[in-house]
Amino acid sequence: MRRVEPCPSLAGVVRVPGDKSASHRAVLLSALAAGESTIEGLSPGLDVVSSSQIMSQLGATRRDFDGVVVIEGPSQGLRASDQPLQCGNSGTTIRLVSGIVSTLEGHHRLEGDRSLTRRPMDRVAIPLGLMGSKVTGEGPRVTPPLDIVGSRHLRGIEYRVLAPSAQVKSAILLAGLYAEGLTTVHEALRTRTTTEDMMRLAGIDVASVAVDAGRSVTLTPARPAAHAWRVPTDPSQAAFFCVLGLIHPHADIEVVDVENSPERIGFVTVLSRMGADLVGRAGESGVTLRARSSPLLATEINAAEIPSVDEAPILTVAAAAASGVSAFRDMGELRLKESDRFEGSMALARLLGCRVWSEGDDYFVEGLGSADAFSPFAINAGLDHRFVMSSAVAGAAGHGCDIDGSDTVSSSYPGFFDDLGSLR
Ligand code: S3P
Repeated sequence: MRRVEPCPSLAGVVRVPGDKSASHRAVLLSALAAGESTIEGLSPGLDVVSSSQIMSQLGATRRDFDGVVVIEGPSQGLRASDQPLQCGNSGTTIRLVSGIVSTLEGHHRLEGDRSLTRRPMDRVAIPLGLMGSKVTGEGPRVTPPLDIVGSRHLRGIEYRVLAPSAQVKSAILLAGLYAEGLTTVHEALRTRTTTEDMMRLAGIDVASVAVDAGRSVTLTPARPAAHAWRVPTDPSQAAFFCVLGLIHPHADIEVVDVENSPERIGFVTVLSRMGADLVGRAGESGVTLRARSSPLLATEINAAEIPSVDEAPILTVAAAAASGVSAFRDMGELRLKESDRFEGSMALARLLGCRVWSEGDDYFVEGLGSADAFSPFAINAGLDHRFVMSSAVAGAAGHGCDIDGSDTVSSSYPGFFDDLGSLR
């Protein structure tokens, strides 16, 4: 149990860790390439450690120097391991690694923690099966542990991803690197482009065309080249400190060098619409966001504005401090994250003292007008790092909280409580 005390004022500068998505891809693409790649700014989160350990099991080597990670992919390519591949809490690891091991001859077993074993893998099992690998798990939603029979003879496919997901798109593209023929993924909503952008830097031919609100991505198979990666900082982590700065009554917080890409920075538009004093200043390594105490107004947020909906829990905390009723629309995907974030976001707002309700995939939060009106509360984070951080922000801005299971913050942001403490 961790106690978060309220604090009279907050000020300072935070640099959040390296982007989790880019960190996973840097590790995986480096392990696939022949020769040495270097990675600067790798996320220290345990999710990325899981990806890295699995790549070592499959034959890559890793050395750590002062702030730089060196990964060397074997010249003959990765090969199956006879031990299970432990994915821990990480959906990104299990889905992306499924794509990679689908291309490696042999049997692969992928395991995860209690949170991961309830997450659906049918969304990768189906397309990877069409390419020629065999992915099986528990029940109709193919939950982990997964057994995968990989093949050197995959076929490229043209596939329409039903529920927009960067992880699913990436699993297919990673498998497509070693398939015969082109692989095309159509997505109805533009999800983050980390995989495509980083594959291009590794010399892969990936073409993207925007189609309405979505896009089509076509990949020509080839082995990625070694690269010197520089991982930008994580916008989804920056969102916690932005909301803290806005809803705390006496705060002035800068979050420096935040990655600025359209699929990741939607939370800034949402908060600005709520009346936030949130100013961005472009710099060489990203945008610096300055968040100062602001009275917030309720808004309507559609999932399309924050693709992957990672920021919904912390925006729920912002809505709880706002005046009026905020609507969170089309948020069904929240149910399938590290925990059921649809129910969890509503439960957190309820603990803060808000009236909340849902209709289908929409939920509504009647804000209290300020964080000063938040109730003190106790919460179990349920193996979900984003509820640890969202709760801590609400507790620090309001009247404190007790968080059970706060250690799970290490899956993405081991230094979160130190960075929070530095602002007091
Ligand atoms: C991620 C994709 C996201 C997101 C996760 C990281 C990725 O999910 O929730 O934190 O690195 O590809 P979707 O697959 O739903 O887009």
